[in-house]
Amino acid sequence: MTPSTTLAVDAMDDDSVKHLFEQLTATNNELAVLHRDLTRKTRDLEEARTLNNQFLGMAAHDLRNPLHVIGGMSRVLLRSRNVSEMERKLIQSIFDSSDFMRRLVDDLLQVSELDAGMLRLHREPCALRELVAERVELQRPMAEGKGIAITLRCLEPLPPVNGDRMRLAQVLDNLLSNAIKYSRPGTRVTVTTRATRGGTRVSVGDEGQGIARDELGKLFLPFGVTSSHATGGEKSTGLGLLIVKRIAEAHGGSVLVRSRVGVGTTFHLLLPAGE
Ligand SMILES: Nc1ncnc2c1ncn2[C@@H]1O[C@H](COP(=O)(O)OP(=O)(O)OP(=O)(O)O)[C@@H](O)[C@H]1O
Ligand SMILES: [Mg+2]
Repeated sequence: MTPSTTLAVDAMDDDSVKHLFEQLTATNNELAVLHRDLTRKTRDLEEARTLNNQFLGMAAHDLRNPLHVIGGMSRVLLRSRNVSEMERKLIQSIFDSSDFMRRLVDDLLQVSELDAGMLRLHREPCALRELVAERVELQRPMAEGKGIAITLRCLEPLPPVNGDRMRLAQVLDNLLSNAIKYSRPGTRVTVTTRATRGGTRVSVGDEGQGIARDELGKLFLPFGVTSSHATGGEKSTGLGLLIVKRIAEAHGGSVLVRSRVGVGTTFHLLLPAGE
């Protein structure tokens, strides 16, 4: 109690003090009940989330096989000489749809693994500069096919990164493919690697449509699409950046974004140094 409260209580008669005490006790009991209630609800929610996640994982896993069969069979039919041009177009669209669904299912499975904390990183010392250069070269034909140039700027030697090469490649592929996907022909994507005080920063900048400030919050949410659209008819699952963020965080890193509508977007991947 503060000195003024003590004075106020001193000035009260016994009945008033008793009444005040009873009120305090009742409020305290109510708070205890609310706290218990909140703890139980949090536990129930956590259990429901785990179940939901398990269900998502099982459904995604079970969908993989039939999709694999549909994709495989349509590929065989596409090679056959006994199909008309019209049939070939139909089979091609069956193949494309099954391929998109397979990608969606793979992404969902990965999100459910990441959510369940089941992502096992196979960490090893990674030559990040070489990895970035490799991923850029792999995406270059896609960019050039859309009339987009990619420039790679590796400004200084990078500190060692202790990371999962495959997962980091996945992060870079996602950021690069977004930059290409949401940019128009005649623009440039610039990839820059820098050594920072705590580790490494890889930036992927584009001169694309940009993202409105009030839509930035959606970027890393499941199925969080914004008003910017793919410029070459590319398909979207809306899970790419969520996976990017989770993988970066599993490495002790983070992903930041800077964007201006009509000017472009830059995603920064920050990774801590580690032997
Ligand atoms: N470089 C970018 N420029 C403009 N908008 C972008 C950029 N990168 C992402 N976005 C916006 O953020 C949304 C979410 O991106 P995300 O990569 O998670 O999903 P996606 O590209 O739609 O689908 P996919 O799961 O196939 O990657 C996109 O739909 C797009 O609206
Ligand atoms: Mg994407």
